[in-house]
Amino acid sequence: MRILRALSVSVTRAGSTKPSAPVIAAKHPFKMQVKAGKVYPWCVCGHSKKQPLCDGSHRTAAPGLSPLRFTPTEDKELWLCGCKQTKNAPYCDGTHKQSHVQSFEPTAGT
Ligand code: FES
Repeated sequence: MRILRALSVSVTRAGSTKPSAPVIAAKHPFKMQVKAGKVYPWCVCGHSKKQPLCDGSHRTAAPGLSPLRFTPTEDKELWLCGCKQTKNAPYCDGTHKQSHVQSFEPTAGT
């Protein structure tokens, strides 16, 4: 599996020393069929309503975070992280199975 990353993840809130933190969007990964050469914006902040992809919600919900854009080199099926805790973004690395993710209870505004 070979994927090129066009942009890296920004983790610092613009104009602030306090970084925005991603929220857990889902306690599971999303299976997605991708096309070679197409750019996909993976949601980093967890606020998108179009998981696992970005819908622009980071601009108001998590300033300082931006999507991670990736371009597959072949048509294939991928498992993209929904919990936003993976160490191998945008792919699921199994972190969602850990108790801090599985016990997460969303609050209003997350
Ligand atoms: S969904 Fe995030 S690591 Fe699996």
